[in-house]
Amino acid sequence: MNIRTMTRKILCLAICISACVSLPVRAEDAQAAARIHWWRDAKFGMFLHFGLYAIPGRGEWVQWNEQIPVNEYAKLADQFNPTNFTPDSWAELAKAAGMKYMVLTSRHHDGFALFDDGTNQFTSVRSAAHRDFVGEYVQAVRKAGLHVGLYYSPLDWRFPGYIMPDLQRESAEAMRDQYHRQVKELLSNYGKIDVLWFDGGETDWLSFSGDWDGAQWKKRPNGQHYHGGFSWQHDEVYSMLRRLQPDVLINGRADMPEDFHSREGWGALGNFDNSHPWELCVPMAGAWGYQPNMQPKPLKDYIHLLVNAAGRDGNLLMNVGPDRNGRIDPSQADRLREIGGWLDKYGESIYGTRGGPFLPANWGVSTYRDKTVYLHILKWNGDKLTLPPMSAKIVQATALTGGTASVVQNESTLELSLPAAAHDEIDTVVALQLDSAASAIPLLK
Ligand code: GLC
Repeated sequence: MNIRTMTRKILCLAICISACVSLPVRAEDAQAAARIHWWRDAKFGMFLHFGLYAIPGRGEWVQWNEQIPVNEYAKLADQFNPTNFTPDSWAELAKAAGMKYMVLTSRHHDGFALFDDGTNQFTSVRSAAHRDFVGEYVQAVRKAGLHVGLYYSPLDWRFPGYIMPDLQRESAEAMRDQYHRQVKELLSNYGKIDVLWFDGGETDWLSFSGDWDGAQWKKRPNGQHYHGGFSWQHDEVYSMLRRLQPDVLINGRADMPEDFHSREGWGALGNFDNSHPWELCVPMAGAWGYQPNMQPKPLKDYIHLLVNAAGRDGNLLMNVGPDRNGRIDPSQADRLREIGGWLDKYGESIYGTRGGPFLPANWGVSTYRDKTVYLHILKWNGDKLTLPPMSAKIVQATALTGGTASVVQNESTLELSLPAAAHDEIDTVVALQLDSAASAIPLLK
């Protein structure tokens, strides 16, 4: 390669680098980062599945699972009249549990709305209760100083157009109109909404991701898409929601640019990911909707899930399913208060932190904020924990759960010692004070 070509190549390279370095952060990325900041710091929220399905008490999918005829299921609305109940009790419990935001099912797949929807009769406003539960809920959540979230399902299995969006196009379009109308109401009539949690709105979920293959219904293989002519017109809803509520955070279950990704279920903790906000949602016990006598798991299981999510740079949304009178199972409520008790003591190692710099390992996970790294040691192998060497200098190690921790640190070693007697049965939390910002430390494996 002659000198001239080489010089030209180096010059191009230099121009590219300078261009990249100074590339203005896309305005929408900056807005997205700004609007999700509180949520990233909050880490822990309450999910509430409440609706007609609380009456049979066989979970929120009872109508579909048991193929209960629409007009028969609709009769439940005549019995849905929660007595001596206000959402304040939910908000107080969420607060006592250390949760910073709440997400209530404003309308689930069965079509029953917990809010005012004009002439629509299938709502809690125009049936036995004659109450706008979404209205009461947002007031209660704000009063408790928590952030307000609403779950909304564009899918409504009362519309045959959901199952056959092409054959039953008119019905599919009526379902779409309901979706656009109701999202507008939720984002116009209840003040500031912080989270809109979509479910069942993905186009590829139409007909429950099934297609007629000329002979039979077949589940659409992963990666294959719906090819019919129906559209949810999500783009219209997206521009409307950004107009009505510029800072509302949305998940990715309605084919819109998501602020955060939803991972779902106890088995879906997944891997460390600090490139895109994510939230794990799990039922505290049983189904999402109410089922009687669903005993909670041991406290350790919930703390480990919360810590493991935070250590992977994610949030945790814990679900409860109140019964037909709005009551949350007392044993689940007690467990939630215990979680709150743990966060009262060790919340500094969760709230306002990010995952890392030590990547999740068999001993546990880490979180950090400013010049502090928190080790969450969930499993010990003797009195010592050997970690990958770290560039930042540790100026102090404090075992928040008790005992005296000591650290040996040099270029090739980082070893923490804490006598076994001080190991915490649930989570040994050790705070490492550093001489510099933890955010500057590359991820350590
Ligand atoms: C699942 C369930 C749905 C529930 C949702 C919550 O998708 O099918 O009923 O509302 O999880 O994440």
